[in-house]
Amino acid sequence: MIAVVIGGGTMGAGIAHLLLAGGHEVVLAESGAERVAAARDAVETSLAKAVERGRLDRSPEELLRNLTVVEHLADVPAELVIEAVPEDIELKRRVLGTAASACPDAVLASNTSSLSIGELAEGLPGERVVGMHFFNPVPVQKLVELVHHDGSSPAVLAKTRKWAEQLGKTVIEVRDAPGFATSRLGVAVGMEAIRMLEEGVATADDIDTGMRLGYGWPMGPLRLTDLVGLDVRLAIAEHLAAELGPRFEPPRLLRDKVARGELGRKTGRGFFTW
Ligand code: CAA
Repeated sequence: MIAVVIGGGTMGAGIAHLLLAGGHEVVLAESGAERVAAARDAVETSLAKAVERGRLDRSPEELLRNLTVVEHLADVPAELVIEAVPEDIELKRRVLGTAASACPDAVLASNTSSLSIGELAEGLPGERVVGMHFFNPVPVQKLVELVHHDGSSPAVLAKTRKWAEQLGKTVIEVRDAPGFATSRLGVAVGMEAIRMLEEGVATADDIDTGMRLGYGWPMGPLRLTDLVGLDVRLAIAEHLAAELGPRFEPPRLLRDKVARGELGRKTGRGFFTW
């Protein structure tokens, strides 16, 4: 199959990696020459990591032959489009609108972690629109959250499920509710960990160790917030607070850190120094 991925950041590059490793041809769209180059680098780096860990059975060079990185999406006979641009509904609607014309037969999937798929589908061919939510690092995490809105066609949902399963993921199907099943719970725990840090309940390290060793999490909630990005978590929490009420109101400490540019691993500093 030919798949289009829009956005070459952490998630987009990971999704491109996954599709290439699954034997698909990938057109990855980014804006601007610098980002096009960075997107290709990110996919290469991700494939190289998989090789290091013995988790890729074909050579990256061979897989990269199936990757085209473009600045402008023109007509592509793709079956699947996945957008992974920042969490801005207008931006997502715009890029999916372009893809709807460039790829007239494709399923239009959004990797959004919290925005409403129904609202996103407004003005688009809604029967083709679904949520296909991946987790970071995409090649490693075993889950895809499949989100349907009232207008998603059953055939489109069935196809999307099949592709996700062929890519080695387990699918959970969730209705279009704020934060779906995963972000809602993940953000709730992450926000509470930040409030506990504000209240001096324990150090960041000890809060994380508690969940790692006590609950068997692969990493604690504060390191995970650093990995996901404090800005990303703040945007999701603000959206959930607007939709579900004050229990999702982001803590002051999170807002302050984002204002200072301490966004987590990607800036070298968040709750920890990287
Ligand atoms: N392909 C590409 N990269 C790979 C890889 C593969 N097959 N396997 C591992 N890696 C990467 C890891 O991402 C990590 O990257 P860095 O070197 O940049 O740190 C590195 O290789 C180390 O991997 P290891 O497997 O050796 O390390 P580990 O055993 O410590 O596992 C981890 C790392 C997989 C991240 C693990 O700690 C983990 O599962 N953490 C929890 C992650 C999580 O909860 N993710 C969900 C976040 S929420 C989200 O994504 C949704 C959202 O909408 C925001």
